[in-house]
Amino acid sequence: DGLLPFQHEPYFNYADPAVADAQRAAFRDVRARYVGRTFPLLLDGQPVEGPSTFEVRNPADTREVVWHFQSGTAEQREQAVAGALRAFETWQFSDPLQRASIFLRAAQLLRARRMEFNAVMTLENAKNWAEADGEVAECVDHFEIFARETLKWAQGKAVSPMPTEHVTTVYEPLGVVVVISPWNYPGAIPLGMALGAIAAGNTVVWKPASETPLSSLLLVELLHEAGLPRGVIQFVTGSDDVYGDPLVDHKDVRMIAFTGSKEIGSRIYERAAKVQPGQRWLKRVIAEMGGKGATVVCADADLDAAATGIVQAAFGYAGQKCSACSRVIAEDRVYDALLEKVKALTEQLTVGLPEDNAPVGPVIHAGSAQRILGYLERGQQTARLVTGGARADMGDAQGGYLQPTIFADVPSSDPLFQEEIFGPVLAFTRAADWQDAIRLSNDSEYGLTSSFYSRDPLKIAEARRRMHVGNLYINRKCTGALSGTHAFGGYGMSGTNAKVGGPDYLFWFVQTKTVAQAY
Ligand code: NAD
Ligand code: ALA
Repeated sequence: DGLLPFQHEPYFNYADPAVADAQRAAFRDVRARYVGRTFPLLLDGQPVEGPSTFEVRNPADTREVVWHFQSGTAEQREQAVAGALRAFETWQFSDPLQRASIFLRAAQLLRARRMEFNAVMTLENAKNWAEADGEVAECVDHFEIFARETLKWAQGKAVSPMPTEHVTTVYEPLGVVVVISPWNYPGAIPLGMALGAIAAGNTVVWKPASETPLSSLLLVELLHEAGLPRGVIQFVTGSDDVYGDPLVDHKDVRMIAFTGSKEIGSRIYERAAKVQPGQRWLKRVIAEMGGKGATVVCADADLDAAATGIVQAAFGYAGQKCSACSRVIAEDRVYDALLEKVKALTEQLTVGLPEDNAPVGPVIHAGSAQRILGYLERGQQTARLVTGGARADMGDAQGGYLQPTIFADVPSSDPLFQEEIFGPVLAFTRAADWQDAIRLSNDSEYGLTSSFYSRDPLKIAEARRRMHVGNLYINRKCTGALSGTHAFGGYGMSGTNAKVGGPDYLFWFVQTKTVAQAY
């Protein structure tokens, strides 16, 4: 196919003062270019205003309104779906080579603007430099990977030949795909779902989370610049009343690709099952939902490596990752020693401004901070507080700054063990032995990510078989899946296990046609 072998986009080395200076300059540039501006919907590629706008605030200091977006109307929602349906008439027959070329061109364009995209993301959702950079690099990887997947799936699959018939099995697109995404990965997550859709010849109504719309809009504009026809993605923003249930219920929508909470994902799954008047298909749903990542540490493990992996996975982006490590389950023999190491590393973390690249920043909202503080208060009655447990002092800055918190001796029935907290909170639980630790790690309705630390090949083999998660990591942290390598998606109530970035992802976005022609 003439493409170079895929290589993951390397991260910026911010330890290099010149690279750090360039990132600071990008913040200045983004502030000058974007802060205070009002951004439109994009219907058929045309900028469109709604009757009113909403504010996007900087979670690092919520007094700062960074930009404004449109509160789109029901009529604009209908225009978006109709536009996507119209564009499908031609895009479904587009040349896969053309689609792949657009994605490769977009990768090139994004490489040149990574620091700008990083800065926009930081100002919307308070990722520090490294976290934002990891996500924007993942977007470059997605463009490259989906270009290759487009070409692969365009070939169809071979079937057993017959002497009397010419038989082909080909993949055809579905129609209009609604893409609904969360705020914690405002670039890579909606992009992965949208590229899955358009790689296969579908068209998209892209509805980002209201906390983080600019990270999405810039990607849509980038795709337009790379040559994507204007109607293929309809970009809409607005309230969940207008762009939630009514989009999911829409009779002309063929598929919903959702990533977000278990509550909303389950709601979408249920609503989409109802066939609406005039609807001529069963809707397809991808619903990738929450997690409750566990790290199992065996007595023979490298405890220093485990402690480092745990702290990175638990407190990176203040624990606001579906993949975060939120439970450590350690064998009794090493439990206390491991806890000491994790505590020491955690207490070295500083809480500060994401724009200054602090290791731990604020959580997304005041409401989110309040909810997490509830867990911290109740946890002190049911478990042993080891470190943290309160708000972090950030002087003047108004944001949800919380101390990285560890609870020990958490029973498996405790909400700290069972519920997705989505904040910088880590629960330690003691296991009698390593088999008990695996059993405890599986005691969860979720099944997204987990880690297993041991040097023993027999234990590792057992963990590979028994740990009930979509993404299992052995002797490494449970965050940081790479597109094209770590196909991402969970088991159980973590969702439909669609596995974005993996070799089978496009199958979700196609239907299969068999044509048998008599010779
Ligand atoms: P959320 O479910 O509250 O919102 C996600 C999106 O759904 C938003 O765009 C929101 O506007 C929209 N929405 C709200 N109500 C809707 C409705 N009735 N119908 C359709 N859409 C509706 O999630 P969040 O708070 O933005 O994100 C955090 C959650 O996302 C966590 O649970 C996290 O684990 C999960 N997540 C999962 C993955 C994964 O790959 N499994 C990745 C990232 C985040
Ligand atoms: N894909 C992200 C990770 O693996 C959520 O951490």
